[in-house]
Amino acid sequence: MADDKDKPVGPHQDPANPDNRISVQRHAADSEHAAKITGDIPERPRADKPVAPKLRKPGRKGLVQEVGSTGHEWDGITEYDNPMPRWWLWTFYATIVWALGYVIAYPAIPLVSQATQGLLGTDYRQEVAAEIERFDQANAAIQARLAEVDLAEIPNDPELVNYATNAGGAVFRTWCAQCHGSGAGGAKGYPNLLDNDWLWGGTLEDIHLTLQHGIRDPHDGDTRYSQMPAFGTDGILDRGQIDQVVNYVLSLSDLPHNAAKAAEGQQVYSDNCSACHMDDGSGDRMQGAPNLADAVWLYGNDQATLTRIVAEGPFGVMPAWNTRLSEAEIRAVAAYVHGLGGGE
Ligand code: HEC
Ligand code: HEC
Repeated sequence: MADDKDKPVGPHQDPANPDNRISVQRHAADSEHAAKITGDIPERPRADKPVAPKLRKPGRKGLVQEVGSTGHEWDGITEYDNPMPRWWLWTFYATIVWALGYVIAYPAIPLVSQATQGLLGTDYRQEVAAEIERFDQANAAIQARLAEVDLAEIPNDPELVNYATNAGGAVFRTWCAQCHGSGAGGAKGYPNLLDNDWLWGGTLEDIHLTLQHGIRDPHDGDTRYSQMPAFGTDGILDRGQIDQVVNYVLSLSDLPHNAAKAAEGQQVYSDNCSACHMDDGSGDRMQGAPNLADAVWLYGNDQATLTRIVAEGPFGVMPAWNTRLSEAEIRAVAAYVHGLGGGE
């Protein structure tokens, strides 16, 4: 850094210049003037609460009434201490009286096992139960008919079809949508019920039987049952053979595959798979064995999924419904599923 002393001194900083000398008198006069100005500024009053000016406001009957401030201040704006409007206050008191009356008359305060009962003896649970009872009674006749009529008759009876579609839709949304999707479109491992590709059959009778006894339900002796072997886990086929047969399965529906492996897989297939999936891969509904030659897949059609399925063996389970639903409900939901578009 350069030394300040070496800097050339300009005419405005040069102490030798008489214009740059401050006169002592001038300085004293300036100080006096400044003291006078600051002395004139009044000190800010330090009130605890800002004091709103007393305002004159015409009251009821033309009287003039003083309105004070609440003491609240925001940015210099103070709040009048006006009384609540009468109508507002009375409405407020009325709601309190109403609430007390309600608590005494109706069930209100939740206690350990039950809410306080109220003097009127209202019981919403009973009301709901009575309402359900009323509907059940209204539907009793048609439900009885639905449960007894020959299954094949249902589609020809418009009244039953109408009832089954509505009641069956409700059953479906309550009991089936979790697995098959609210639109019945299915998911991996849970069949789509909208298409006309059926594992166990798509006539009303087939669907009815599937629902009554479930699929591979260990608690139902009449359940639909079959079991594809776990070819890898149980050591029936080695990795190479599984790879070959998977490529053969892919070739059945023209999916990308290794042609050389598929050619070898054909023999593995006819030795191990065709008993259930048929020679042409079209499947067997008696055993719930899916068609492997179409575009519909229960578990997926990529190489990894197919390899896993063949190695570990799939085992889809649907519970039997005859222990949970009435015969009329099962028939209703069977008719509903049958009517979804894929029914045979
Ligand atoms: C816990 C899950 C689950 C629930 C709940 C469930 N399902 Fe299923 N359902 C399945 C599975 C899994 C399969 C396929 C089983 C298999 O791999 O063979 C299936 C199969 C079916 C089939 C046979 C489809 C075919 O292609 O043959 C029908 C029909 C069916 N379900 C209807 C229903 C109806 C109606 C309900 C409601 C009452 C219902 N399911 C509730 C899991 C479920
Ligand atoms: C004992 C009868 C049986 C034999 C033998 C059998 N399968 Fe299966 N296979 C089934 C059944 C039943 C299912 C459906 C299981 C389910 O729904 O969970 C199935 C499902 C499949 C699936 C799933 C299809 C899809 O849509 O996702 C593939 C892939 C498959 N099998 C391939 C094979 C191959 C390859 C072989 C021979 C190495 C074979 N299976 C042998 C009965 C059999």
